[in-house]
Amino acid sequence: MRIARRVEALPEYIFAQASTKIATLRKKGIDVIDLGMGSPDLPPPKPIIDTLYEAALQPDNHGYAGYYGTPAFRKAVADYYGRRFGVELDPNTEVLSLIGSKEGIANINLAFVDPGDIVIVSDPGYPTYTMGAILAGGESYPMPLREDQGYRPDLSAIPPGVAEKAKILWINYPNNPTGAVADLETYACCVAFAREYGLLLCSDNPYCDLTFDGYVAPSVLQVPGAMDVAIEFNSLSKTYNMAGWRVGMAVGNAKAIAALATIKTNVDSGIFRPLQMAATYAMNADQSWLAERNMIYQRRRDVVMEFLPRAGLRAQAPKGGLYVWARVPEGYTATEYAERALQEAGVWVTPGPAYGTNGEGYVRISLVLPEERLREAGERLASLR
Ligand SMILES: Cc1ncc(COP(=O)(O)O)c(C=O)c1O
Repeated sequence: MRIARRVEALPEYIFAQASTKIATLRKKGIDVIDLGMGSPDLPPPKPIIDTLYEAALQPDNHGYAGYYGTPAFRKAVADYYGRRFGVELDPNTEVLSLIGSKEGIANINLAFVDPGDIVIVSDPGYPTYTMGAILAGGESYPMPLREDQGYRPDLSAIPPGVAEKAKILWINYPNNPTGAVADLETYACCVAFAREYGLLLCSDNPYCDLTFDGYVAPSVLQVPGAMDVAIEFNSLSKTYNMAGWRVGMAVGNAKAIAALATIKTNVDSGIFRPLQMAATYAMNADQSWLAERNMIYQRRRDVVMEFLPRAGLRAQAPKGGLYVWARVPEGYTATEYAERALQEAGVWVTPGPAYGTNGEGYVRISLVLPEERLREAGERLASLR
């Protein structure tokens, strides 16, 4: 049996590795506080779950549901983009369902990247941008996101030779892991860059409705002309507390959507119809509960921001997303700090290099546990000093 070289080129997914370590400690009776993965701990509102239940009871809802998303699901996505961003989408050609956005983020590479092609990824950034490029036989070019530049892309630093060979440029705001946000001006620069070099701009926007302090996140598709060069990945995972449901969408440029759909029709057979019915309900229903839910995360963020100095950590308060990106105390690498926090304080935070070399010196703290638990994590981290 000989496993493909591409598998050897992929590291084990960081969260898979961490969960094994955490499980081992828990087996020994250690009460580990896991602030690693960004899996929302709150459930979706009951009417969404009821819709899933009712739909699953229908005998004719259990066959293949089609490849592209049901017409009702795609219309709900288009209506959401219209309402939320003022972006008009054709549900038939500019919207595609995904089995969670991660699936589409990986598969878009198969649609655009030939062996040797370059994919420009943010560093630090969501690991699937790089892994997707590797799976397609491409190479990733890490584009540094720096604290002193507000973690926004410095497109002028990308060598023209790289830009010319690149097929995709990834951007993600509100950003995982840094918590940075971007305005339309930043998006407009990315659109202009994509147009200049003839590449596909992929905006990953799953945190657009998980924002704090009154901040409202835009979509790249609001930039005039963005539909010519861009697609956006989005998801119900974070917006509606539905991460385990695996429902997402790609929207935007029709040619890119069609290419992604061609890959998908050959590798998957769509999303279970009752999930799409419940997702459709979620997008069409009254959205006012989101403000209350965001307040829960905002208060958690404030708890974390309050304990950081006592633990010798430093961070900017994020305006969106599920994470605080904190500088580790002097004298530690990120991995050394995370290991010590896990072994001596029973607190798991993700070491920054999991998101790229520019993540060195930082750890990512997820806001996915209740305030009391975050306070306790803070006490434990403070005791390490
Ligand atoms: C930046 C970013 N993109 C995409 C995803 C994938 O989300 P999903 O596949 O659940 O839609 C995540 C999940 O944490 C993320 O942080």
